[in-house]
Amino acid sequence: MSQLVFDEETGKQLEALYRIGDTVRRRRLVRAALAAAPGERILDVGCGPGFFCAELIDEVGPEGVIVGVDASPQMLSLAARRCEAHSNVVLHQADATSLTVEDSGFDGALCVQVLEYVPDVAAGLAELYRALRPGGRVVIWDVDWSTVSWHSLDATRMERILGSWAEHLAHSSLPRTLGPAMRAAGFEQVEMEAHSFASAKFDPQTYGVALLPVIRSFVVGRGDITEPEATLWAAEQRELGKRREYFFACTQFCFKATRTS
Ligand SMILES: C[S@@+](CC[C@H](N)C(=O)[O-])C[C@H]1O[C@@H](n2cnc3c(N)ncnc32)[C@H](O)[C@@H]1O
Repeated sequence: MSQLVFDEETGKQLEALYRIGDTVRRRRLVRAALAAAPGERILDVGCGPGFFCAELIDEVGPEGVIVGVDASPQMLSLAARRCEAHSNVVLHQADATSLTVEDSGFDGALCVQVLEYVPDVAAGLAELYRALRPGGRVVIWDVDWSTVSWHSLDATRMERILGSWAEHLAHSSLPRTLGPAMRAAGFEQVEMEAHSFASAKFDPQTYGVALLPVIRSFVVGRGDITEPEATLWAAEQRELGKRREYFFACTQFCFKATRTS
C-alpha cells in the first residue's frame, strides 16, 4: 500500500495542523535545539509548507540564509508563498537522499518529521552530514507512532484504524534506531530528548484532535476500512470529548548532533 502523498490536499491539511498550539510548541523546541545565530546558513530538509523557513529568518537575520528543500512541488509552492517577503530564503526541489546543495555549506540543518517517510534513512543522514560544515549542528525530529495511546470504547476499531495509519510512512518507529544510525553516518555528540504530546481534553489545538481528519482521509478505502467506519471512529472521539472522557498521548523525539570534522 502506498504512503501518504504530499499533494495539494495534504498541503491544506498540514497548513491547518501546523498552526495549532502543539505544533507551534514543537517548532519552538526544534528552534531552541538548533539555536540558529545571526548570519548563519541553515538547511531545512523536507521543509514542507515552510513554517520553519519563515520563522528561522528572524533568527539568522538579513545576513543569514535559509535553504528549504522538499521533494513535493505542492509543498514548495506553499513554502514560497509563506516566505515571499524574504529574499534570503531559497527553495529547491530535491529528494532528501540527493540534495542539490554544496558540500560543507551550512552551519546548521534541521529535518523535522521527514526521515520517517524516507525509505533509505542512511542516505538521508549522509546528505545532511555532507551539507554541514565541520562544527555544524543538526536537529532531527521524528515520531514513534507505536507510542500512540488513544482511548476508545471500540478498541478493535481503534487498532484497525491505527494499523492502517501505520502505512502512511516508511518507518513507524524510526526514533528507536535513529541514534545509532546518526553515529554510523559520522555525527558525534548525539543527544535525544523525548517530548510527550498528550491531552485529556478534546481541544482542537492539540495533536490528537488535529490529526483526526488527516488520519480519517488516509485510512478510508485502505484494506477493508470503509468511509462510514472511519467517520464513526472520528465521531466517537468528539463524543468522548463531550463526555470529558477523551484521552490521547504520543511521544515525539528530538535528536541533535554535531559534525565535528
Ligand atoms: C510531515 S511533513 C514535515 C514538514 C516540515 N518539516 C515541518 O515540520 O513543518 C514531511 C515533509 O517531508 C517531505 N518529504 C517526504 N519524503 C521526502 C523525501 N524523500 N525527500 C524530500 N522531502 C520529503 C514531504 O514532501 C513533506 O513536505
